[in-house]
Amino acid sequence: MTPTSNSPTRHSRITGTGSYLPPNRLTNDALAAQLAADGVETSDQWIVERTGIRARHFAAADVTCSDLAVQAARRALEAADVDAASIDLIIVATSTPDMIFPSAACMVQQKLGIHGCPAFDVQAVCSGFVYALTVADSMIRTGAASKALVIGSEVFSRILDFKDRTTCVLFGDGAGAVVLEASETPGILASELHADGRHVGILCVPGTVSGGNVLGDPLLKMDGQAVFKLAVGVLDEVARAVLAKAGRTSADVDWLIPHQANIRIMQSTAKKMKLPLEKLIVTVDQHGNTSAASIPLALDESVRSGKIARGDTILLEGVGGGFTWGAVLLDL
Ligand code: ACO
Repeated sequence: MTPTSNSPTRHSRITGTGSYLPPNRLTNDALAAQLAADGVETSDQWIVERTGIRARHFAAADVTCSDLAVQAARRALEAADVDAASIDLIIVATSTPDMIFPSAACMVQQKLGIHGCPAFDVQAVCSGFVYALTVADSMIRTGAASKALVIGSEVFSRILDFKDRTTCVLFGDGAGAVVLEASETPGILASELHADGRHVGILCVPGTVSGGNVLGDPLLKMDGQAVFKLAVGVLDEVARAVLAKAGRTSADVDWLIPHQANIRIMQSTAKKMKLPLEKLIVTVDQHGNTSAASIPLALDESVRSGKIARGDTILLEGVGGGFTWGAVLLDL
């Protein structure tokens, strides 16, 4: 039963998941061959050893962030058995929207034929989905919404510098979505969001548009080692904080779904939490780093494969440019 908007026991719960990957899949070998044609040297062995990535998907040139988002959203709506017309909140987490404005969320709203409900983007780079889910949960608990579509969608291939082998081999395109509904029983148990703008320079796309020109350099720059070091520290801290907030321990966690950027960071997080590696959900090998889409993509694939089941306790953790980081603990 859906609680009323002023119910003291009003919570939010995920009722359906969906995801979408564009059909063009590139293995490391295929990408290395393309890069070699431009004199950029890399190898499957280097990429696998340093990151765990084996393949990624790239969207076709005319496919946008909202196109991917809509596909994922339709699958989540179907899984939740929810009619698009009853959605009363749309949030898209993305750093690669279709255009400067309107938001990708408004594009999704138009493409799904939904009218009138609030729709906006959240920009927290690879932490975007955790941020968006937390905002949607807060709005549902206060009664501002009852049925939300929360989507992470990215076309990172658009902002990659294919002359820079230290970054262009790491990222991919895709989208993941959930339907989050008001519920009398808690789904989202606790969340924690953080940012530290002192680190804006270690991971950025330092370009903008002004007077009809692109100013700066609109391609991704990353100090990989600085990001690696910060990520390992904050992911451990935020996992502890969100568990403490919910009155749980790592022994209660059935599945850990961290942002899928690098297998070494993900395994280090699981080890610090004393979680067996079997509880770590890994899709980075097949998707690469899809930024805000990585967590909902991994969640949906695990639900559809039957690995994750209703009632399981899941810890989602994001970390990314800004520097931003956060976690959500939930019962599915
Ligand atoms: N192929 C072959 N060689 C390469 C490649 C490549 N693709 N890239 C770099 N190298 C070389 C370097 O030139 C360097 O060579 P040198 O020793 O001769 O100078 C050597 O490999 C080692 O390079 P490092 O940068 O030291 O490699 P490292 O082990 O640090 O791995 C990596 C790099 C994978 C980027 C790692 O630092 C990392 O994963 N960082 C974290 C990224 C992350 O988590 N991002 C999450 C947020 S993403 C977001 O918010 C958008």
